[in-house]
Amino acid sequence: MKKKHPKTIRNLFRLKFCCLQLGMNVRRFKIISQFLYSSFTVYIVLRLGFVDYSLVPENRKLENIPLECNSVINGTENRRKISRARQWDWHFDWVEHEIFNSRNVCSTIDKYFNFTRIPSSREEAEYPLAYGLVVYKTIVQVLTQMSLFYQPQHMFCITVDDQSPNEYKSVIQALPSCFPNMHVFIGEPSQWGSFGILKNVYTCFNWLSKSKQKWKYYQYLSGTDLPIRTNLEMVRIFKALNGSMNTDVSTFEVDRYKNMEGVLPPMPVYKSSMSVVVPREGADYLISSPRVQKLLKYLSKTWIPDESFWSTVLGSPALLPVPGSIRVRDILWLRKNFKLRPPYENTVNSIGTSYIGRYQVWGWQKECFGKVKDFSCVFGVEDIEEIMTRPELVAHKLYLEFQPAAFMCMLKEVRRRSLSPDAHLFSARSYSQMPTVELYQGKAITQLTNPNWLVRDSFYNPQHEDFDKEVL
Ligand SMILES: *[C@@H]1O[C@H](CO)[C@@H](O)[C@H](O)[C@H]1NC(C)=O
Ligand SMILES: *[C@@H]1O[C@H](CO)[C@@H](O)[C@H](O)[C@H]1NC(C)=O
Ligand SMILES: *[C@@H]1O[C@H](CO)[C@@H](O)[C@H](O)[C@H]1NC(C)=O
Repeated sequence: MKKKHPKTIRNLFRLKFCCLQLGMNVRRFKIISQFLYSSFTVYIVLRLGFVDYSLVPENRKLENIPLECNSVINGTENRRKISRARQWDWHFDWVEHEIFNSRNVCSTIDKYFNFTRIPSSREEAEYPLAYGLVVYKTIVQVLTQMSLFYQPQHMFCITVDDQSPNEYKSVIQALPSCFPNMHVFIGEPSQWGSFGILKNVYTCFNWLSKSKQKWKYYQYLSGTDLPIRTNLEMVRIFKALNGSMNTDVSTFEVDRYKNMEGVLPPMPVYKSSMSVVVPREGADYLISSPRVQKLLKYLSKTWIPDESFWSTVLGSPALLPVPGSIRVRDILWLRKNFKLRPPYENTVNSIGTSYIGRYQVWGWQKECFGKVKDFSCVFGVEDIEEIMTRPELVAHKLYLEFQPAAFMCMLKEVRRRSLSPDAHLFSARSYSQMPTVELYQGKAITQLTNPNWLVRDSFYNPQHEDFDKEVL
């Protein structure tokens, strides 16, 4: 385009020449040429100011990429729009390349990702959170994800897998120089089912709990989680939890004892999820407990130990009086003895579940509109509308490289909601009526407001559910 400008000017001179030749009177010529010059100036100003977005630094942020998300977020009957979103292909390899090859990683991160530099509100500033992450690949996805969780008052601890490529590890290791509230550990290889995962998670959990910063709740994240809630919503939800922990609760499967079969564990083991929400007082207690150390040692010789840790340490208050813990035994007893109908609704106004850590769909539970990997749904464009109505804190899993419109529309929507003038209207009332919160506050299992919110663990199979027995 640049070459055109001299040409336009040349044309103006040519016009002057020809008009004079035709004997056009000077006054008329002046009007015409003034008009042409001012049109030219207006054109240049418009072009610099509005058309060439790359000249305006803020608009380089990846999250501002133009994308029609209304049909993805709010739903539509229009198949063409959905299919266009599904086929939207976005190549971000060049960003990855630039990050890996930049001399100043911090400024490259600043250029493409929107990390909020000041707390979004006073309420949020006064309620810092702690995030523990374990990552090993996809730098653009992980940075995009973190930019959405990020607030300067929070603390972030990241364990990066030792087997990740060196260029990946060095970018992650550089993060604390860009963000003073981040800390990085090089962790162990974390193959599925191995102790390495739990060890990496615990390393960060331990570090965050030992820090002096007075965060209120700890939350675990994997590199494939995206928030469904805004930061303000998370804060309100944590307040509604009233100091109780939140994780999945299920029966420990006998085959998971592996090498420890017949060896008595230091406390009753339950199955849960890696994903957890722990109040600060609980975290302080856990890291100083010798029994927890014994349990970690015991679990290291079992199968998929990361899924046995949280509900075990947070589920036996009589043995291990962790602040925030509740008696998991009661929940399992209720499930066994009463066949309650699971709730129809799972929304912010009627939670319908007792595990809000993360929303994950297993292959046997319902249709996955993305693809199923390791038995778990990698969400696609057509899953997003439902996800955005769910009450959970984060969605697991999303890949930026798989149907990227799913990832990007979710990101844009959560950002839009967090900046909305109505953001402060969010009410977390229903969260305070979750059975786990009421149990923690001392209600008996038979007195709960919503006992049927306990019916399902996150691995439930709808085909195995029957409600013909007693109804509470
Ligand atoms: C980045 O996020 C903040 C709030 O989190 C918002 O105020 C700002 O407009 C965003 N910037 C861009 C370029 O999207
Ligand atoms: C979805 O609908 C809401 C409410 O009507 C609207 O504010 C929002 O902008 C829509 N989302 C998108 C991505 O267009
Ligand atoms: C729990 O709720 C009670 C009563 O509503 C309140 O007084 C207390 O401060 C809350 N505790 C926490 C840790 O939020």
